[in-house]
Amino acid sequence: MEAVDSIRQRIEKLRELINYHNYRYYVLDSPEISDAEYDELMRELIRLEKQYPQFITPDSPTQRVGAAPVEAFGVVEHPVPLLSLGNAFSFEELAAWHDRTKRLLAGQHFDLVCELKMDGLAVALTYVDGMLTTGATRGDGYRGEDITQNLRTVKSIPLSVPKDVPKRFEVRGEVYLSKEGFKRLNEERASEGQPLFANPRNAAAGSVRQLDPRITAKRPLDIYIYGLGWAEGPVPQTQWETLEYLKQLGFKMSPYNERVSDLQDAERYYQRQVQKREELDFEADGVVVKVNPLVLWERLGIVGREPRYAIAYKFPAIQATTKLKDIGVNVGRTGSLNPYAILEPVSVGGVIVKRAALHNEDDIRRKDIRIGDTVVVQRAGEVIPEIVEPVTSLRTGDEKEFEMPARCPVCGAEVIKPEGEAMHRCVNAACPAQLFELLKHFVSRGAMDIDGIGESSSAVLLKDGLVEDVADLYSLGEKKEQLLKLERLGEKSTVNLLTAINESKNRPLARVIFVLGIRHVGAETAELLADHFSSVDALSRATAEELMDIPTIGPKIAESVVDFFRQGANLKVIEKLRRAGVRLEAEAVKARELPLAGQEFVVTGKLEAFTRGEAEARIKELGGAVGSSVTKKTAYLVVGAEPGSKLEKAQALGTKTLSEDQFLHLLESGK
Ligand code: IVH
Repeated sequence: MEAVDSIRQRIEKLRELINYHNYRYYVLDSPEISDAEYDELMRELIRLEKQYPQFITPDSPTQRVGAAPVEAFGVVEHPVPLLSLGNAFSFEELAAWHDRTKRLLAGQHFDLVCELKMDGLAVALTYVDGMLTTGATRGDGYRGEDITQNLRTVKSIPLSVPKDVPKRFEVRGEVYLSKEGFKRLNEERASEGQPLFANPRNAAAGSVRQLDPRITAKRPLDIYIYGLGWAEGPVPQTQWETLEYLKQLGFKMSPYNERVSDLQDAERYYQRQVQKREELDFEADGVVVKVNPLVLWERLGIVGREPRYAIAYKFPAIQATTKLKDIGVNVGRTGSLNPYAILEPVSVGGVIVKRAALHNEDDIRRKDIRIGDTVVVQRAGEVIPEIVEPVTSLRTGDEKEFEMPARCPVCGAEVIKPEGEAMHRCVNAACPAQLFELLKHFVSRGAMDIDGIGESSSAVLLKDGLVEDVADLYSLGEKKEQLLKLERLGEKSTVNLLTAINESKNRPLARVIFVLGIRHVGAETAELLADHFSSVDALSRATAEELMDIPTIGPKIAESVVDFFRQGANLKVIEKLRRAGVRLEAEAVKARELPLAGQEFVVTGKLEAFTRGEAEARIKELGGAVGSSVTKKTAYLVVGAEPGSKLEKAQALGTKTLSEDQFLHLLESGK
């Protein structure tokens, strides 16, 4: 009994330590221990909890990893609705709000709190007896979605808070992705051929609303808490004290909050933030000015859905005007015709913009954008520039309305617009543009990962007719003579290329499913499909109903899969892949037989040829394990540019290190 008691105590101690270091790292951004030391603590806790599952508590740091997927989110009623804010777009509008507030309070003096308005997604977190019980989206303000399991994966959200707090209370805040996190996520998606998120807010919203919390867990989400929704028990009397109080409870608070005494100071705060806005590591679209004493909030009341105690003072958009010279059309991998704006180059907030996204024809019509128009171009953060609107007062009458071409600009085949879809499509599955995109996708790192075929050689292979579909890659060996005659491909690189093609025949099933180019099936969905079907053949026989039995697969994906396997051209390519020896089944190889089995790798610094995720995926494919910190068990530390403290640790422990070249060699040769 006593031994078990001391184990429970050790588990509690570990939890306390890990929570503290989590807080230092994720909330205060100022860690006290190394990643390795942190991992050591975590591993010990995982091991003890595995042995003694009776001691697992819901707020244990091990319980953040992401629960099982759900079919749909439950509904959460908000006891106090989540309202929105009125906007001010100029100092005059802010002053008008301030005047009205003063009038309503009969001249009573009040101070103000200035905060940044984070551009993410509003959430409400409920704590009961100090434990996080519910996390919800704002929804329509009265009822939101229950996304508790997803929010539990956000490391800066405490799973529990100190005990001397109101029995029940709700905090509110904004979940967001940093600019850096957004960039990384999109880079990863681009390398996997997945559609990109338009901006950090959409990426955060998409991540938080994943039906599979394990996907959410992989997204670098963060949160800033900006207030209390409600509480059963005594709480501070002002907004400023509330912010301080929540900070003490361990919530992540914005470091940009300031208490100011009057309107002029609020304006100075705003001007300072406008200056600094590009330096922020997250997107903010304005500042929120709030009346500080909470007693006044009720007296001021609510108009419509906007409380009068606060106002959002919006930042000016980063915009410029320029001429729309023409509208071009690209053909994508699935045959979609993507219009884009060709602009007279213009500087928008210091960045030269020559092209802008135009999404689709409906969008162009809705905004009434015409070729030759002077247009307002807007750029927000890392986002592709957009056209906001035409300046119609500057029209000369020579502007031309855009017509989507009736024939594919690349192959001349018919263009259709399927019922209920926004995009026009080229009907020709063999369209060189589609084939080109498909080929690029097929050979890319996150897909079949064939080195030596880049954009230009893809184009050459297609142009010279050496490749008519992706499966033809596998018969290039028989065309070596022709291959050698191609521009810029010497004997050595031809041999390398053929070796790389040959090696790609054994990629995991998920990747094979991914590269088939089934509409709406990205890398994540392909993994799900590979988990449920043991081969491409089994998948090809699945009915829409069977597919929809898989959580997170809805009718759109299910139909697209079924439809894909109904098309003769696709079946032909699959047959060709099979005959070429590409493995279309799940791996039967035992992990033990893989070349890197039993060896743990740790990666530090920036690699040139891979993202961190790609490098780790390659290691795992070859049977290796990936650690996050150097320990005695680490077999190799892979060292990229600007390595961190891991290198020192490795040197201290005498761990073997590999340069990127040595690592590449190891991946290729397996030894
Ligand atoms: S206070 C009555 N403070 O802006 C609403 N909101 O338009 C009280 N937001 O849904 C909200 N940063 O998601 C407040 N510092 C901040 C904020 C903030 C971002 C968002 C919030 C809300 C929306 C209101």
